[in-house]
Amino acid sequence: MIFADKRAIVTGGANGIGRHISEKLLDEGAYVHIIDIDIDAGRDMEGRHERLKFFHGDVAERAVLEVLAATPAQPVDFLVNNACVGRGGLLAPCSHADFEYVQRVGVTAPYYLTSLLVQNSMLADGAAIVNIASTRAMQSQPDTEAYSAAKGGLLALTHAMAVSLAGRARVNAISPGWIDTGGYEADLADKAQHPVGRIGTTEDIVQMVLFLCDGEKSGFITGQNFVIDGGMSKLMIYHGDYGWKLPGK
Ligand SMILES: NC(=O)c1ccc[n+]([C@@H]2O[C@H](COP(=O)([O-])OP(=O)(O)OC[C@H]3O[C@@H](n4cnc5c(N)ncnc54)[C@H](O)[C@@H]3O)[C@@H](O)[C@H]2O)c1
Repeated sequence: MIFADKRAIVTGGANGIGRHISEKLLDEGAYVHIIDIDIDAGRDMEGRHERLKFFHGDVAERAVLEVLAATPAQPVDFLVNNACVGRGGLLAPCSHADFEYVQRVGVTAPYYLTSLLVQNSMLADGAAIVNIASTRAMQSQPDTEAYSAAKGGLLALTHAMAVSLAGRARVNAISPGWIDTGGYEADLADKAQHPVGRIGTTEDIVQMVLFLCDGEKSGFITGQNFVIDGGMSKLMIYHGDYGWKLPGK
């Protein structure tokens, strides 16, 4: 067990990628606090794992983060800022309140939670912070402004925090592409379009989180973003490529 007795916080840890990250950290011996708005899934996690504590709350709320940051009894070794939501963009249109909410979840919470841990002297020396961003920080489908802006902000926050926390903590980001979390059945074309011939699994992301948390292996890495997308963001497609045609042309 590589993380015996280490302390971790995972936001959005009750489902999907965050749940798998939390479970792997537990498997490796860590004590894990998760925060999530999904009370049923959070309680289910708590019931299954002795070293896991579930905190029910919305990371968009300042007061919730202040209570959460005061909860761990010992300094935190790993902070995984994973929770995020999307609420559309220019076409929906995404309202002022919704746009702001997505930024609070996706950017403000990772900043403020880190800040509270630093101010409270609850970030352990040599800690690792891992921000779960997205390839949508770098490329877009229509109507995704709120989410893309939050993810772009999270990448900028990653290098800024890495520099501010130099010598105290390493801060890195992971940008997943299409990751199967069980909500959608990918068809053959969905898979084949990726250069690696498949879509991603939560394990693809978890392995990078474990690597970035492990200072023995990744101690020379900070301020970086790791794209895990099966090569999809490197594939250049023009009208006529691979038999693909822009509809109506
Ligand atoms: N699945 C993908 O294809 C994919 C691709 C790129 C990036 N990501 C990113 O990975 C992370 C996890 O995504 P996922 O697919 O596992 O999502 P998910 O929706 O399956 O899980 C997200 C979890 O976060 C919780 N959550 C959402 N808003 C919250 C809030 N305000 N406060 C507390 N908890 C909150 C949800 O209840 C849920 O448990 C997100 O940051 C997402 O943007 C996912």
